[in-house]
Amino acid sequence: MTARLLPGAPVAEAVFADITLRVKTLSATGVTPSLATILVGEDSASAGYIRMKQAKAAELGFASPHIHLAGDATHADLVAAIRDFNSDRSVHAILIQHPVPDHIDYAEALLEVDPDKDVDGLHPLNLGRLAAGMPGPVPCTPAGIEALLAFHEIPVAGRDVVVLGRGTTLGRPLSLLLSQKRPTADAAVTVIHSGVPGWERHTQRADIVVAAVGVPGILRPEHLRPGAVAIGGGVRYEGKRLLPDLDESCAEVASAITPRVGGVGPTTVAMLFRNAIELAERATRA
Ligand SMILES: NC(=O)c1ccc[n+]([C@@H]2O[C@H](COP(=O)([O-])OP(=O)(O)OC[C@H]3O[C@@H](n4cnc5c(N)ncnc54)[C@H](OP(=O)(O)O)[C@@H]3O)[C@@H](O)[C@H]2O)c1
Repeated sequence: MTARLLPGAPVAEAVFADITLRVKTLSATGVTPSLATILVGEDSASAGYIRMKQAKAAELGFASPHIHLAGDATHADLVAAIRDFNSDRSVHAILIQHPVPDHIDYAEALLEVDPDKDVDGLHPLNLGRLAAGMPGPVPCTPAGIEALLAFHEIPVAGRDVVVLGRGTTLGRPLSLLLSQKRPTADAAVTVIHSGVPGWERHTQRADIVVAAVGVPGILRPEHLRPGAVAIGGGVRYEGKRLLPDLDESCAEVASAITPRVGGVGPTTVAMLFRNAIELAERATRA
């Protein structure tokens, strides 16, 4: 069997088309949506991600104020930058570029972000809203995976989904999202992790397996049921080289699979801007 590929680009294009209309509607009321970014340090990959997001912001009609802190900035410096954006009424969404230097505690910094400007949906209040089924920004990569499956008409409702990894940015929120009562979710979700010896007994019976670990090549064909759908969310970078969790040979067994490059990634960026426009709309209504 050769698996059907599930690219993220057409999913992102559809989301961006919707956002463009919503930006126009908001702009007609005199409001420019604004996604603010904070970068700490000189990491070239992180600086590249910020440039890419600023270019996308400009293309979509968002303002994108930016604060760049030096690599030796303190936690207090970062908190001051966050508070500047929190109190600026023209800013609707705030992104702290991850990773931050080792001496900064990202989780602590996140607590300072106004939850109603938390574009990554990772503030504990927003993770709580997700768990409680309340509206709020949803972490971007999990939201992108749900959108990817829906766009490519992979049925999820009532099916067995196994998520490999219980991390805060991907596995945990994805498991909450796909078990919600909604036509594009409503799945029987199992979460497995390093505390589950022989986890392949779970993936081998799954209809859909999502790798959300960050261990290159951890998901292999022998871990899949023939005809299953395999989604690669986890990646590790060695320099500029992207090493995905999903071994490409899974395509020999799966019925559908995300491509090595251009699968989940583009949908994550689209969901970032979807969260940003939703936060701007909500703030404008309030
Ligand atoms: N594509 C994108 O746009 C995007 C966006 C965000 C994140 N990601 C990627 O997604 C991955 C997960 O992110 P995260 O922040 O959620 O990661 P994380 O917090 O580091 O969580 C990783 C999870 O993988 C599990 N794990 C590690 N080694 C394992 C093994 N050998 N067998 C079974 N489980 C194992 C860990 O188990 P324990 O809990 O037992 O330690 C943990 O639950 C990372 O690679 C990250 O780069 C991609």
